[in-house]
Amino acid sequence: MLSFFKINGKLPMHGGIKVQGSKNAVLPMMAASVLNKGITVIKNVPMILDVCSMIHILRELGCVVKVEGDCVTIDSSQMSKIEIPEEWVGKMRSSIILLGPLLSRFHQVKTFFPGGCSIGKRPIDLHLTALELLGATFTHTENEIIGMTKQLVGNEITFSFPSVGATENAIMASVCAKGTTIIKNGAREPEVVQLCLFLNAMGAKISGMGTSTIKIQGVTQLHDVEFTNAGDRIVAATILAGAAICGGEVFIEGVKKEHLLYVLDALEATGCQWDSKGDVIHLKRCLPLKPIKQLVTAPYPGFPTDCQSQMMAVLTLANGVSTIEETVFEGRFNTANELKKMGADIIIEAEKKRATILGVKKLTGATVKALDLRGGAALVLAGLAADGVTYVTDCHHILRGYAHFAEDLRNLGMDITLLEEKQ
Ligand code: EPZ
Repeated sequence: MLSFFKINGKLPMHGGIKVQGSKNAVLPMMAASVLNKGITVIKNVPMILDVCSMIHILRELGCVVKVEGDCVTIDSSQMSKIEIPEEWVGKMRSSIILLGPLLSRFHQVKTFFPGGCSIGKRPIDLHLTALELLGATFTHTENEIIGMTKQLVGNEITFSFPSVGATENAIMASVCAKGTTIIKNGAREPEVVQLCLFLNAMGAKISGMGTSTIKIQGVTQLHDVEFTNAGDRIVAATILAGAAICGGEVFIEGVKKEHLLYVLDALEATGCQWDSKGDVIHLKRCLPLKPIKQLVTAPYPGFPTDCQSQMMAVLTLANGVSTIEETVFEGRFNTANELKKMGADIIIEAEKKRATILGVKKLTGATVKALDLRGGAALVLAGLAADGVTYVTDCHHILRGYAHFAEDLRNLGMDITLLEEKQ
């Protein structure tokens, strides 16, 4: 079944929604449940394709996983397998996050190179090097990786780049290692902080999360845990960008403004006004959109690469010239070509990692193709602001990370439906 969104554009966005649970926080927590030979309960879990894939993988490894509403209960006590099936690695490359937990629990792991995707080559060298520093050895064939260790031992790890996934794998592999691990130039994303808080609730001894230096003192025993997942800050940012491109006023509940400051600054620079109270962010756009001279993506707390495509969509309708520099993923400008089908005027200089967006008066509905998760979401935003009807095809990419996206947008006054096309 091929699914696609049908959108009637040019309506203003009005209303409020509570944002779904965080995809990029819940996936490492689900992987970390392997460390505890017992029961892990996670609440506020978004029912998205990537979560379904992680549930499949955990079941393949021998976990008993129950889903009741937005609550997932994982019983890993009877786990026995150490191989992550190749088909699932292909479906969800972030399954690589299981390397650390499986090595820690079983001292071995078998998986496959996740390969690149449409936003970049996505190598895993930083993951493997960090785990080797903790005492793992890896052998591999063309596409298969086998990791072994007699015992993981704490060490000092300095990342050349603050990779989110590699930091998370190193943390999880260190939790029950012998001795202490110090991670330098580690990722500071809120999702990494939440993983550390979750692991500490399980009995781990982690400090320094949210800074570049994270200390993990190895423990011998973990215990059952019940934890509530945070709201998804990238989904929240996507909806806020929707209000910017469509005009109107929205209230988004469930994320802290502190986790979106660079995004809110960027939206303010386009002429939006925002304020916040508790975990509700209020944003409105009534003036014409202003361009942003230079927007640069960076690891947290910089402007998130996961919001780059959405901001590109917004800037296609600004009255002037904007530039975006994508410093995190080398292939994350692909969606520009799809936006151009709707009348956007964008110049990509790949070697300079730069996109120049020349604002146009209007976008026109067209049939466009989602090429990746956030690029697909950006095409939906463009369709919401375009004249006429837009079809966004291949939206399984979008459903990987956005739960009830069309429903949320309809609740904000948009005319959008998710349709299935019989093959
Ligand atoms: C996480 O991916 C997120 N995914 C991504 O979100 C997000 O874009 C990214 O972090 C950056 O914030 C999840 O959390 C599931 P990285 P991850 O390792 O961990 C290079 C979305 O839209 N690198 O921080 O894979 C890599 O090529 C997704 O929700 C190496 O060179 O990102 C990239 O250029 C997309 N070697 C940069 O680091 C490595 O071993 C950042 O990657 C690992 C990464």
